[in-house]
Amino acid sequence: DKTEQDRLKMAAGIEAAKLVENDMIVGLGTGSTVRFFVDELGRRVQEEGLTFTGVTTSLRTKEQAEGYGINIVDVDDVDHIDITIDGADEVDKNFDGIKGGGAALLWEKIVATNSSKIVWIVDESKVVDTIGRFPLPVEVIPFGERHVLDRFKERGYEPVLRLDDQGQPVLTDEHNHVIDLHMEKIEHPEDLAQDLITTVGVVEHGLFLNMVDTVIVGDPNGPRVMTN
Ligand code: A5P
Repeated sequence: DKTEQDRLKMAAGIEAAKLVENDMIVGLGTGSTVRFFVDELGRRVQEEGLTFTGVTTSLRTKEQAEGYGINIVDVDDVDHIDITIDGADEVDKNFDGIKGGGAALLWEKIVATNSSKIVWIVDESKVVDTIGRFPLPVEVIPFGERHVLDRFKERGYEPVLRLDDQGQPVLTDEHNHVIDLHMEKIEHPEDLAQDLITTVGVVEHGLFLNMVDTVIVGDPNGPRVMTN
């Protein structure tokens, strides 16, 4: 149930917060699991005097972190990022994952790519044998997106333009749209990634292939660590 899942997310988030040390530059991900992680960092900042610099992957996380007095800087104002801690929608045993359920995949991938170490925090339901049951988010430029949708349809990717409650296309922090691919099983993620990124109009996709170093899984028996 929902509360149990939240408990597992929170446990993973609290465990991950132990990895943050004074003076680090830390990439802060996005999503409900990261929210627990940032809450714990906020507690450490306020109660333990922890000081670090954060680089955020969404405006939502920036707002939350700044609310705790965490110093947030732009990704282009740092020359390196020591560690990035983020959530994920799915991850398999090859450390291939899907991200972007919260539409933050583009900034998340940019921050991750520039990080020395990447850690994901997930509840156990996200650890899968084959990725793809979670619809794969693809960020696209609104101009010409109908043709991108048609192209994805022809290729059998089962694309759906993501809409908000008002029936309007969801906007990313870069004011792009998101197409979710309902593929159920992605057997050849490298090939798919190559196909998506070379499709004109696609900005980025949510396949994060073998990028993550450590996955902290919120498990009913306590947080479990998977190391790549
Ligand atoms: C944001 O775009 C995503 O990549 C999130 O990191 C992912 O959706 C995980 O979110 P939850 O922790 O809310 O499941």
